[in-house]
Amino acid sequence: MIRRLSELDVHGKNVLVRVDFNVPITNEGTIRDDTRIRAALPTIRAIIERGGVPVLLSHLGRPKGGASPIFSLRPVATHLATLLDTTVHFATDCIGAIAAETIQHARHGDAVLLENLRFHPGEETDDPAFAAELAALGQAYVNDAFGTVHRAHASISALPAHFVGRRAVGLLMERELEFLSKVFDDPPRPFVAIIGGAKIADKIRVLERLLQQADLVLVGGGLANTFFAAQGHSIGESILDERYISHAKMLYNRYSGSLYLPVDAVMSDELSDTALTTVYGITEIPLDTELKILDIGPETIRNYTDAIESAALIVWNGPMGAFEFKPFRAGTLAIAEAVAHATERGATTIVGGGDSIAAIAMAGVSEKISHISTGGGATLEFLEGKTLPGIAALEE
Ligand code: 3PG
Repeated sequence: MIRRLSELDVHGKNVLVRVDFNVPITNEGTIRDDTRIRAALPTIRAIIERGGVPVLLSHLGRPKGGASPIFSLRPVATHLATLLDTTVHFATDCIGAIAAETIQHARHGDAVLLENLRFHPGEETDDPAFAAELAALGQAYVNDAFGTVHRAHASISALPAHFVGRRAVGLLMERELEFLSKVFDDPPRPFVAIIGGAKIADKIRVLERLLQQADLVLVGGGLANTFFAAQGHSIGESILDERYISHAKMLYNRYSGSLYLPVDAVMSDELSDTALTTVYGITEIPLDTELKILDIGPETIRNYTDAIESAALIVWNGPMGAFEFKPFRAGTLAIAEAVAHATERGATTIVGGGDSIAAIAMAGVSEKISHISTGGGATLEFLEGKTLPGIAALEE
């Protein structure tokens, strides 16, 4: 049994709420896409309305176990205060005296946001001592971090054990699980998955399962480079995780009929809005080039949009290239538009992951997607049918 938020007694309590505020932020502190923050508002508001003080816990980026200003959640606190139209107290540490004192200052109607959990190595190692320090800060626990539910990290996995009978699932997480279970129990076909982005290790792990479930898998972004390297093509200075080359080779040999790879690429030696670009066929990239693959090329766009056109279910996770910069945007935006168009003609479409959500917003098609999932890797692992650590930890 997993308790719902409405069944949790929050009145007069400091309620630890694990949210996923891992949003894209520029080095100057501007939030590029606030979908994940807005998605957590119903849970935060419900706790405030019922007389509790939400104490929000989140990670941001991958700071590798130490504090670093570019990974600070402070800009999120400022933005959240505007969205909620209330005071959001920001604690510069997520444990200890600083956190406890900040929480003490919160009055009824306020919220508290603690600094990035990943500034402490104990978060990612699921350290019981770190979880105990977090637990000391509240009297109830809610997990609304669907985007991080697949990570066995302290705030997701060890922390709920301190709140037996006083822990619940948040409204966002509940809505995500309901929608995704309904679709994946009996997926409409043809089912086309589109996988891109730069988190190569995470994506390649779920790719095999996805190849077993979907009718077609379209690969782009940094993930595709691993396959090019496995086929012996030059990729210049493009990002690559060499550990997965042999795995990629195996996958390609086994699933070549349903695994689509880019046939051309937009390349450049510079990541900027004014970068000069060249389009190469994948088999024609010069051996000694210093260029990087930064987007899919025009022929790949045609192949991929044709495949999307014939799908009844589309799951998209991860951009096709470095779409934050103008010269490398065309591939990702074309996919966004094709997915939106497919929804209009009746397909079920699910877009997940921070960057893909930012891309559909940039393309102006967010309203045209069946379900925008705040989960990236989490949605893919849910689709794999795995028991996710954050869900298991909420069971009573
Ligand atoms: C995500 O963006 O997928 C989640 O916030 C998890 O982040 P992570 O991949 O760095 O664990």
